[in-house]
Amino acid sequence: MEIGIAADHGGYELKESIKNFLVSQGHHITDFGAYVLDSKDDYPDFVIPLAHAVVNKEVERGIAVCGSGVGASVAANKVAGVRAALINDHFSAHQGVEDDDLNLLCLGGRVTGNMAAQELVTAFLNAKFTGEERHLRRLGKVRALEG
Ligand code: RB5
Repeated sequence: MEIGIAADHGGYELKESIKNFLVSQGHHITDFGAYVLDSKDDYPDFVIPLAHAVVNKEVERGIAVCGSGVGASVAANKVAGVRAALINDHFSAHQGVEDDDLNLLCLGGRVTGNMAAQELVTAFLNAKFTGEERHLRRLGKVRALEG
């Protein structure tokens, strides 16, 4: 799968770990930065370009990491067409895709460990949107807010 990934300094180490894992699984990764650990960098500078790439279908799914995952999800959801969520549990990692068509997974580099992140990312990437009518109806109501 074509996957985009981004992180600020709070998520940099986890991003690198996830990237190595996904490459080992045969995925192709586009890294939107940060490319160095810089304690003064700002998550929107990396997450917003990733969010645009998801919407423009340059990548199939996105993964964004900041310290908590909160800032990344707040920023990503400002881009119309992005459905981002901070995920800390396995159920939400796949159900968010199945029901809500989640297309950008957010993680907290200061919250989630490397191995747990691998399980969350795997559940997210393996899940597919069901396309069921009730979910399409609900997402239509969300999309209506995007103008
Ligand atoms: C950076 O210190 C930190 O605020 C950021 O990575 C993130 O946790 C924001 O939500």
